Amino acid sequence: MIERAKKISGWMSEAELLFLYTIASSIPDQGKAVEIGSWKGRSTVAICEALKQKSGINFFAVDTFKGDPEILDGFKIENDEVYKEFQENTSEYHFLNTIRATSTEASNQFDEQSLDWVFIDADHSYDSVCNDVRLWFPKLKYGGLLSGHDYGKVAVTRAINTLFGRVSVWDSIWYLRRVQQAPRHRLFPAIEVAIRRSLLQQKF
Ligand SMILES: C[S@@+](CC[C@H](N)C(=O)[O-])C[C@H]1O[C@@H](n2cnc3c(N)ncnc32)[C@H](O)[C@@H]1O
Repeated sequence: MIERAKKISGWMSEAELLFLYTIASSIPDQGKAVEIGSWKGRSTVAICEALKQKSGINFFAVDTFKGDPEILDGFKIENDEVYKEFQENTSEYHFLNTIRATSTEASNQFDEQSLDWVFIDADHSYDSVCNDVRLWFPKLKYGGLLSGHDYGKVAVTRAINTLFGRVSVWDSIWYLRRVQQAPRHRLFPAIEVAIRRSLLQQKF
């Protein structure tokens, strides 16, 4: 299950790896999922171990492989070491497509409402988390799952709470489903106008 993932260095706890494995197990055959922020592949491998039991899966790992300046204390990786380690750790999963690009660049390759699952674990600054959510949320199918790591870190929590209010959380993984908005029920236009008028006249 997650034995291979546990051997790879990273920030994901064992409980979180198991959670990712469980979510991946629920993706339907022919499903499509994206992880943004893979580093050396700890989370990627946990997900792939579940997805390899399915058919027709398309899984994409998006990463610059330059590191998250927030987590690495400003340090930026300028060589191929992390990318090579990621490739070695994930080479056996033929349904995995690696996109070496920024989250913003990669998002242009995906259609709206095309994904079953998006997992965000890239740059953990407030602006980047907001940007990632805004980029990737529309790519989800209705009923698809949006999730991310490090809820509990101040910037991540503030971004997610600002955008969604409440989310579900497992260890430090936040998640929610994209639901279809019910069409707004329209009263007869004449009644709506009358209600608006009376509200305008009301003194508060
Ligand atoms: C916390 S690590 C991911 C950890 C990984 N999920 C694991 O389980 O070990 C964050 C990763 O996001 C990548 N990253 C940071 N900002 C990015 C961006 N704007 N676009 C794509 N990748 C980014 C970094 O290169 C780094 O590998």
